[in-house]
Amino acid sequence: MKKVYIRTFGCQMNKRDSEVLAGALERRGAELVDDWESADVVLFNTCAVRKHAEDRVFSILGLIAKKAQARGEDKVFGLLGCMAQEWRDKAFKKAPYLDIVCGPNDLYALVENLDEIIARGKKALFVDGKARVDEFYSDGAYFSEDREHSFVIIMEGCNNFCSYCIVPYVRGRERSRPSGDIISEIKLLIDKGISKITLLGQNVNSYSSDLSFLELLKAVSDIKGVKELSFVTAHPKDASVELFRLMAERENIKKYLHLPFQAGSNRILKLMNRNYAIEHYKELVMAYRDIVKGGYLSTDVIVGFPTETDEDFQATFDVMKELKFETAYIFKYSPRPFSKASKMKDNVPKEVKERRHKILLEFQRSIAER
Ligand code: 5AD
Ligand code: SF4
Repeated sequence: MKKVYIRTFGCQMNKRDSEVLAGALERRGAELVDDWESADVVLFNTCAVRKHAEDRVFSILGLIAKKAQARGEDKVFGLLGCMAQEWRDKAFKKAPYLDIVCGPNDLYALVENLDEIIARGKKALFVDGKARVDEFYSDGAYFSEDREHSFVIIMEGCNNFCSYCIVPYVRGRERSRPSGDIISEIKLLIDKGISKITLLGQNVNSYSSDLSFLELLKAVSDIKGVKELSFVTAHPKDASVELFRLMAERENIKKYLHLPFQAGSNRILKLMNRNYAIEHYKELVMAYRDIVKGGYLSTDVIVGFPTETDEDFQATFDVMKELKFETAYIFKYSPRPFSKASKMKDNVPKEVKERRHKILLEFQRSIAER
């Protein structure tokens, strides 16, 4: 029986992909292990959203591969997820110890071919997005590392093309899973004793199958055994007052909203291709605070986007001051391959990005303390 170690980086989508992968491999006789040392197959499911995280993955993987080699151990190494899709066959050049490179929409191909890859001992590249994603999600669906809570993917990919973002290029266009599959998956998880569910998608509001997102949310909230239901991520251009009303009405829907605003200046929002004005964002938040009593609000912010001036930054700061988020994830801009913004000059100096980042972090900490 082969032993497989999976390490996950990045967002909750990746975390759930890894769980489903683990489940699907387990069903085919693999044993999942918690340490790379005892594994025959070492898989890193990775994130490409920011440069910093990416550098870390290559450095950790490289270190492990070197150690294994020094001990004369013959392990299979795989780079999976968004970085695999970004690097494609170039990953084999960058990291020659890799045996497998597999994008996020090809994980089912990896599941079905792993034994053969190991037997053949050849390099395997899966990046054409042709694996059956819906079948993959059903295959390992029962698997959750948490005994109480599970993420459930409702849609994949993104059509928004925010100018800084690599996601549409590595995860592809938006695809919604059939509502029947989602509901069966949740029932399976409930049978395993899980009572808290988070519906996942890059942009859950644009879920669309036989049901709309609001209809799906209602249907899941109606399932017996769902004690707590939440969702991420909502996009300000599509979040609605109807959504907030439903959150307020339904006892089992968690009063939690993650609504990234990214920047406070309309000029920067436009360059980011976010498709809303900050005034609209503020109105949404006011409606949320008003309708969902005691609601928790979190956000994402980027500092140092190309051409961001002190005034633009001040506008971002003012939004944070005015809206008082319970949590804010603050990122320093880094250019990502394929993205539109990467064609602009990354002209905000590193020190300025760091200073702005620190100011927002400290401000957010001071609010959280209060
Ligand atoms: N640079 C910095 N932060 C980024 N994000 C996405 N792309 C970039 C980038 N190129 C941030 C956004 C997004 C979060 C998941 O990561 O804030 O909401
Ligand atoms: Fe990236 Fe924007 Fe899509 Fe989020 S909504 S994944 S930031 S392109």
